[in-house]
Amino acid sequence: MNTKSDSSPQSRARTTVRSLREKKQAGEKIVCLTAYDASFARILDQAAVDVVLVGDSLGMVVQGHETTLPVTVEEMLYHSQLVGRGMSQSLMIVDMPFLSYTSIELALENAGLFMKEAGAQMVKLEGGADQAETVSALVQQGIPVCAHLGLQPQKVHKLGGYRVQGREERAAEIMLEEARILEEAGADLMVLECVPERLAQIITKALSIPVIGIGAGAACDGQILVLYDILGLSMGKVPRFSHDFLGQAGSIEGAVRAYVEAVRSGRFPAKEHVFS
Ligand code: KIV
Repeated sequence: MNTKSDSSPQSRARTTVRSLREKKQAGEKIVCLTAYDASFARILDQAAVDVVLVGDSLGMVVQGHETTLPVTVEEMLYHSQLVGRGMSQSLMIVDMPFLSYTSIELALENAGLFMKEAGAQMVKLEGGADQAETVSALVQQGIPVCAHLGLQPQKVHKLGGYRVQGREERAAEIMLEEARILEEAGADLMVLECVPERLAQIITKALSIPVIGIGAGAACDGQILVLYDILGLSMGKVPRFSHDFLGQAGSIEGAVRAYVEAVRSGRFPAKEHVFS
């Protein structure tokens, strides 16, 4: 039995793939945040954040790179191990970094490392139909997968910048089709990043797996933001879809709890955080 957080003020059942699906079915919003070390992970865990993502965004917000591309498997493993030590009840997802899943064999090897050596309960990878076989191979080995559509930061150079995706009719149709293919391949969760609110709503309705939005509007089954953005620590401009919760809350714990409450109650995201 894991007793790491028995003294936590917020003792609750551990989040699982199954409980996330139940939340979608019950219409309860799923709250997700990124974390990169044990101290922040503990704060998120105690604030009843459902899902903690060790995002490759650490390349930007922790390491100071301009993109997520330089992040390595070793660095993701190190940060995942730190985060894992801070958590007992939230579900931990680890991002597969750039070029760490270019073949099924490589994806299995690297995802296996995150599961075995950091205690990840799910891995996340960016991509559409081209990743369906990889998703299927991971799932067959018992590795839950979170897919990631819309803006895929690992493709930033190909996309020509960090831009809203799926605005044109054909692009929207393709995204919906790819979401269905990834669900069919066995993905258990889907992140939609920087997608018009209406398209995100259609995809969320079309899938039976939970859809988590970031810059994708309030109709998604849940929300995720980069932890440093909600604490006003963004390097450069705060993304339009994010919000600094620290200013009003006055403490890090307070800011995380304010975010949790805002997502659960449907107050976040508001109109000004959404793309059309
Ligand atoms: O790397 C990351 O933090 C992410 C989230 C922004 C979804 O992928």
